[in-house]
Amino acid sequence: MQDSNPSSKPWAGRFNEPTDAFVEAFTASVDFDRRLYRYDIQGSIAHATMLARQGILTEPERDAIVAGLEAVRARIDAGTFVWSIPLEDVHMNVESALTQDIGSIGKKLHTGRSRNDQVATDVRLWLRDEIETIRAEIQRLQLALLDLAEREADTILPGFTHLQVAQPITFGHHMLAWFEMLDRDSERLADCRRRLNVMPLGAAALAGTTYPIDRHYTAQLLGFDRPAENSLDAVSDRDFAIEFTADAAILMMHLSRFSEELILWSSAQFGFVDLSDSFCTGSSIMPQKKNPDVPELVRGKSGRIFGHLMGLLTLMKAQPLAYNKDNQEDKEPLFDSVDNLKGSLKVYADMMAKVSCNRERMRAAAKQGFSTATDLADYLVRKGIPFRDAHEIVGKAVALGVREGRDLAELTLAELQQFSPEIGEDVFEVLTLEGSVAARDHIGGTAPVQVRAAIGRARERLAHG
Ligand code: ARG
Repeated sequence: MQDSNPSSKPWAGRFNEPTDAFVEAFTASVDFDRRLYRYDIQGSIAHATMLARQGILTEPERDAIVAGLEAVRARIDAGTFVWSIPLEDVHMNVESALTQDIGSIGKKLHTGRSRNDQVATDVRLWLRDEIETIRAEIQRLQLALLDLAEREADTILPGFTHLQVAQPITFGHHMLAWFEMLDRDSERLADCRRRLNVMPLGAAALAGTTYPIDRHYTAQLLGFDRPAENSLDAVSDRDFAIEFTADAAILMMHLSRFSEELILWSSAQFGFVDLSDSFCTGSSIMPQKKNPDVPELVRGKSGRIFGHLMGLLTLMKAQPLAYNKDNQEDKEPLFDSVDNLKGSLKVYADMMAKVSCNRERMRAAAKQGFSTATDLADYLVRKGIPFRDAHEIVGKAVALGVREGRDLAELTLAELQQFSPEIGEDVFEVLTLEGSVAARDHIGGTAPVQVRAAIGRARERLAHG
């Protein structure tokens, strides 16, 4: 890092005293916003290209600036660039290096532009790319879930409500529930990307610029759908960052729910699934332990992302138009949200590809807790008994089972017939687990045949998504 020197700052013209050393460090953002450098340089090259096309720069000036910016980018890529805190942020570091390298032509780059429209553009360009990466990771996780659902389409486990055994379901069906949540998460991010893909450049500090710029051309060079309609809005609002973080928070909420289930299911008490050793750790004191650290950590990380959402909302709240320095504080929560979201999705996609299921344990659990009681009630309804009466009859049969320590399928026909003479020998077909899941044979139901059909449709959606 270089020393403080008032004359080296691009804005120091009206200043007589150097910046207080602590204030300089306090107001600087280069330590974190340098990660935007590729987008900063991409934006500058497009801006210079537009300026030359409009006759605001000459072609030789443009060529010197573009070559100079590419050389700066190569130095940053190579790790040999010296970042300066007195130069405050990534924008002034890059511009000042350019001017040092190519001389005073470099000073023309900032014509018709401000750091206010520059930073708003950089963050949008960066986030647009990150959303692509995140959506690709979501898709990798979704494919792992579909493979698992296919392998376990017939595997029966208890479905729960209130974490009490409710009705038998198939494991494939459960995995498809997770798939659907992720599908909406991915759509939300695609929608966020569509809304953020609008270009702030040209808004300059807040009111636009007096040069004859062509904003449509710059937008086209940068792959934006269009220039932002209003200069004040373009430089000041960070709603796109808030929207992204809200989408990230919802996604992390979903991952925290998956995590909770994996943690429960991999415990000795449930024993439904086994997480691969490569995604677990042991205990330094208890030799028998294999801890589900990965799902636990992902569940924990949801907290910081919910926090970032609140942080960004509070950052933006009540800010008057247009740009305020407050907005420099948007970056760290946004960067941290992206990093942790990407990490969580990556580890989940890798982990879910290696989950193994303990079919016997799941089956044994589904046999407990009278999970086919609703099937018995539906059976009685088919015999002409009103559903409320059927519910009452089955309740009594369950009470007998509880007293005797036997499941409904383990009661004799004579015992069942005490509660309703309509019950016949065919009742035992509906009391089996296979019969129960196979009977839920409609779109969205848990029957294995429906699960297989849903997997097919899900693969189609991913292929055309
Ligand atoms: N580092 C600043 C930010 O992140 C760049 C914009 C600064 N603009 C200004 N007028 N001070 O917001």
